[in-house]
Amino acid sequence: MTPFRSIVLTGASSGIGAALARDYASKSVRLALIGRDATRLADVATACRDKGADVATATIDITERATLEAWLQRQDAERAVDLVIANAGVALEKGRDLGDGESLRRTMAINVDGTLNTILPLLPAMRARRVGQIGIVSSLAGFFGLPQAAGYNASKAAGRVLAESLRIQLKADKVGVSAICPGFVESAITRGNSFPMPFLMTAERASNIIRRGLAQNRARIAFPLPTKAAVWLGMALPGGLTSRLLGG
Ligand SMILES: NC(=O)c1ccc[n+]([C@@H]2O[C@H](COP(=O)([O-])OP(=O)(O)OC[C@H]3O[C@@H](n4cnc5c(N)ncnc54)[C@H](OP(=O)(O)O)[C@@H]3O)[C@@H](O)[C@H]2O)c1
Repeated sequence: MTPFRSIVLTGASSGIGAALARDYASKSVRLALIGRDATRLADVATACRDKGADVATATIDITERATLEAWLQRQDAERAVDLVIANAGVALEKGRDLGDGESLRRTMAINVDGTLNTILPLLPAMRARRVGQIGIVSSLAGFFGLPQAAGYNASKAAGRVLAESLRIQLKADKVGVSAICPGFVESAITRGNSFPMPFLMTAERASNIIRRGLAQNRARIAFPLPTKAAVWLGMALPGGLTSRLLGG
């Protein structure tokens, strides 16, 4: 049973977002779901409606700030949003070649600007009502630089630190903020990876952990434990040593 009644979720058409949407769906819940692929988003919406949820969908690219802002404000006016999860994200970089840098720039635009475009329009109303929870989907890849994904790592570090700062800043307004930091999860993002992905888990399992953490307003929802422990070790080592261990 979720404490949230009106939920905005980006990246709901696939992977972790689709699992969260299905899991949050129930008779008393309103879901405002955003994705780009209309067919996949409609399938998720149907599954949520079958569970009794009131569902609105929009196929909006989250980098389209004005369009997203207008839609989010309409959703909030229809039913006051008490949870927003900025989940949509991409990992566009491939291999060591930075090319013209476009994949890196686009990754930052979607993962960082897109996150801001998702949460900022809802913040003034949440603060005024003194009710609300924000979840920013970062990653265990957002703690230190890893090879071949500079934009992705940097964008996930930005999301995590943004969540940490906002959490302190918004506490007095009774708005909670959680940084969500998964390890490897089965989804379109990981499907093509040729490197080992230790402790890979299903999106459904990730959704369970994320929902529990958000209900408790946890500062950081980082999982699974072995990957989290490896990241902490990497952070505890001198920067030069961590870099050398990663091939730098
Ligand atoms: N899978 C992992 O191992 C893992 C680990 C740590 C963190 N994460 C993070 O978890 C989040 C969800 O990823 P996932 O693993 O579930 O991957 P996914 O299956 O590829 O899902 C990504 C979702 O984001 C949406 N999206 C991407 N760019 C968008 C844009 N510009 N505008 C609107 N929606 C956009 C996609 O929509 P369409 O499909 O409709 O285009 C899709 O619904 C991401 O932020 C990712 O970085 C994933």
